[in-house]
Amino acid sequence: MFRDHFPFFDQVNNTVFLDNAASTQKTRGVLDAQILSDSVEHSNVHRGNYALSRQNTDAFEMTRALTAQFINAQKDEIIFTSGTTFGINLVAYSFVLPSINSDQNIVISIAEHHANLVIWQRITALSGCELRYIELDDNGDYDLLQAQELIDENTFLLSVAHVSNVLGQLQPIKALTTLAKQCGAFVLIDGAQAVAHVDVDVEYLNVDFYAFSAHKMFGPTGLGILYGKSELLNKMPPLIYGGEMVEKVTRNHTTLTKPPHRFEAGTAAISAVIAFAHAIEFMNFHTLENLQAANSKLTAYAFKQLDQIKNIKYISPKSSAGIITFNIKGLHHADIAMLLDEQNIALRAGTFCAQVLFEYLKESGALRIAISPYNNQNDIDLFITALNKAIQILED
Ligand SMILES: Cc1ncc(COP(=O)(O)O)c(C=O)c1O
Repeated sequence: MFRDHFPFFDQVNNTVFLDNAASTQKTRGVLDAQILSDSVEHSNVHRGNYALSRQNTDAFEMTRALTAQFINAQKDEIIFTSGTTFGINLVAYSFVLPSINSDQNIVISIAEHHANLVIWQRITALSGCELRYIELDDNGDYDLLQAQELIDENTFLLSVAHVSNVLGQLQPIKALTTLAKQCGAFVLIDGAQAVAHVDVDVEYLNVDFYAFSAHKMFGPTGLGILYGKSELLNKMPPLIYGGEMVEKVTRNHTTLTKPPHRFEAGTAAISAVIAFAHAIEFMNFHTLENLQAANSKLTAYAFKQLDQIKNIKYISPKSSAGIITFNIKGLHHADIAMLLDEQNIALRAGTFCAQVLFEYLKESGALRIAISPYNNQNDIDLFITALNKAIQILED
């Protein structure tokens, strides 16, 4: 069974894990590979003149090739980072800040995670440029008509989430990218919530940068990936300077090496990178199509059960990534979450690093379940029973 690949579910503890948008569980293959890499196979990479180091370097670079294949990129367009947040910051400081001027603007959406919002406020403060927000249409999609007005010849960058961690549906990235390209703007996509659920093809999407995290797709924690078009990476200065990103260093001058290594100074999260290959192979083996089908079926089931709850108010009317965000009218999300926690239901409550979105929606917060293909109907049933119990307690 699919669920059997995840040691998390071996435990006696009976947590109903529905917080997969925050982080997914890791496969046995990933965990075993990481332990092996950190124990009997450990050495640094790219710098040892001995067999073990060469072997690890090959494995490390093999993950890069697999990652590139996974999103239809070239190997040298894949930079290993610590996560989506770092990837976005790298683009901000190394690509945007050196080139943007005060007459220009950056366009994001109102639904961005703080990882793709606060940094742009900072860049705005440092450069004097303007920050613009695309709002939502009645379906919770980015408002394309408004986007048409906001994205103009002064737009330096469009930076939006492929899937919002609150709304859960696939956003019209291709249409937005086309709009941005017509105006000569660059495009960065926050793919943190998309990669585990949708087929990402950076060439088809024609994006310049795409950032995501391994820990949201059954992989190791502390590892992120930034895709960047090679012609842009070639011109981009690094954000971090140090070892393994140089060709020649003299007292007064350094020649930098080519991308992607130029952006990977210092020792990487070696075992995480090596283990990440297992997460990608696992997804390739099970196929996105099957994973999506399983998730959609269970998400539809969850919606059906939730529909029966009196006073339910959905934050987003649909979901393609297993994310369902909702409130129960008249009750506080934090009170419900506390009572759910007492019944071993692991979900999120609050504003999910998206305070601007919640202000826009005029909600103080919400509850969120995020379903993964390893969840099953029993998880949903246990959650619904616990939710009904929590509501009953609070309404009594
Ligand atoms: C849409 C979105 N963007 C960015 C992030 C940040 O990811 P990380 O913490 O792995 O850097 C998250 C994490 O939840 C997210 O959901």
